[in-house]
Amino acid sequence: MNELRVFCPATIANVACGFDVLGLCLDHIGDEMVVRKTDNGKLSISRIEGQDLPFEADNNVAGVAAKALLEALGSEQGFDIEIYKKIKPGSGIGSSAASSAGAVFAVNKLLGEPFSLQELIPFAMEGEKLASGALHADNVAPALLGGFSLVRSYDPLDVIKLHSPSQLYASIIHPQIEVKTADARSVLKQSVPLKKAITQWGNVGGLVSGLYTEDYDLIGRSLHDVIVEPLRSLLIPRFNQVKQAAAKAGALGSGISGSGPSIFALSKGEQTAKKVAEAMGQVYSDSGVDFDLHVSRISHKGIHPIISNTP
Ligand code: HSE
Repeated sequence: MNELRVFCPATIANVACGFDVLGLCLDHIGDEMVVRKTDNGKLSISRIEGQDLPFEADNNVAGVAAKALLEALGSEQGFDIEIYKKIKPGSGIGSSAASSAGAVFAVNKLLGEPFSLQELIPFAMEGEKLASGALHADNVAPALLGGFSLVRSYDPLDVIKLHSPSQLYASIIHPQIEVKTADARSVLKQSVPLKKAITQWGNVGGLVSGLYTEDYDLIGRSLHDVIVEPLRSLLIPRFNQVKQAAAKAGALGSGISGSGPSIFALSKGEQTAKKVAEAMGQVYSDSGVDFDLHVSRISHKGIHPIISNTP
């Protein structure tokens, strides 16, 4: 196999209470990427469609992530990457993660899978570091593994794929303003009062338990973030109104998707999720801010090949 086309899904990081540790994989929202072997021993990016992003491999998250993998292997194999972006950078649904994780997934497959999906996570994190300055795994892990994932520890890295209930759907509104992850991280405080930490880790435990027991009410009760959301929500117009509208339309809970500006809500069932998306959209309809709406189930499949080309 010399060439691979892959689908690179969007992801929701943090999932309210789990800053930097929880993430989930969306279904049909995502980029495509074509990776092929070349004979010149170089890593190149020959085509980028949909967004204006750097072509130099060292300045592009896909290039940096793929290079980290090749260096770990000591491989001199050349690769060329084509990126077809549908996820807008700075949207909060894992644009850089889709490219970083997509590149390492495809390169690894074309090399005969020397690494497991779990082992690819640290390479993909190098792309995230280029994008935001932070080595966070809560987008790249669900993009690679599918479903929900929990980063139990960063040092050493320990990522667990969690159970996700089949009736759980996400509604997402993406206001067309850009919030850079690095900026959204710079507004955070470096220390957390114990009282807030207690609330937060109670909610993380409750959410994980709710996922396994398919207890949708418990999932809803746990979707609260008392640490990050109060600071970051100030960067997102009409945030509280969107949350209220989602709750009124039947959502289990809601929060900022990743570092924003997208806002997500989780619901039981697709019909409710559609109503929730509509209600979220209505909040923005007279705001003068353009927006995209998405409804997606939680995808069990992470990045996956679409077409493979065997010579
Ligand atoms: N956990 C990261 C953050 C996700 O919130 O900064 C960025 O998408």
